[in-house]
Amino acid sequence: MLANTEHDPFSTLDSRRSVPARQLDAPGPDHATLVRMLASASRVPDHGKRVPFRFLRIAGEARHALGERLAARALVRDPDAGPGALDKERQRFAHAPLVIAVIAVLDPADAKIPDVERLLTAGSVCFALLQAAQAAGFGACWLSGWSAYDAEILRVLGLGADERIAGFIHIGTPRMTAPERDRPDPEALLSDWHPDAA
Ligand SMILES: Cc1cc2nc3c(=O)[nH]c(=O)nc-3n(C[C@H](O)[C@H](O)[C@H](O)COP(=O)(O)O)c2cc1C
Repeated sequence: MLANTEHDPFSTLDSRRSVPARQLDAPGPDHATLVRMLASASRVPDHGKRVPFRFLRIAGEARHALGERLAARALVRDPDAGPGALDKERQRFAHAPLVIAVIAVLDPADAKIPDVERLLTAGSVCFALLQAAQAAGFGACWLSGWSAYDAEILRVLGLGADERIAGFIHIGTPRMTAPERDRPDPEALLSDWHPDAA
């Protein structure tokens, strides 16, 4: 077992943790820093080199405009939604200064690379973007929520028929050190395959 010293090669990887969106403040990354982070996040395994993802930036006033669209849509989905619930929708994208929607670009006609593999690549981008944000000195978290699956909101965001939200990555300056949580015990998850098992 490697010692947990300052030379521990896992220390950077192991220090990653999510910062709740409500705890993410301005400033977020400037354009050049964001592009650098996206370059790092794009270094993902990609079967067939299809680049099955793209990025949509939701920042500034656009966050509030999207919040209004969410509130309007939430009222259609639930006409009994109260002012508190609608206000929550208005704020959903407004906590962090920057939200990057990582969009999975699927292609059911692609006979060689199944959509599930494209989705896995896009998911890897989300994770790599969390790491890149933290490496650049920011906090981040990966959220979905109902709006990631609502056809009308996907239309509002400009997604095509074969596109999905892999994740909304909220990025900003952490207001607090996020508490660590219990992590799975890898040994409890590890088993050996034996040829006589089945
Ligand atoms: C695909 C995906 C969607 C998620 N959506 C939400 C969400 O909508 N709300 C939420 O509280 N956490 C969501 N999470 C969990 C957080 O991103 C995060 O993993 C969790 O808060 C634990 O923090 P950690 O990353 O430090 O382990 C989602 C995670 C994944 C992988």
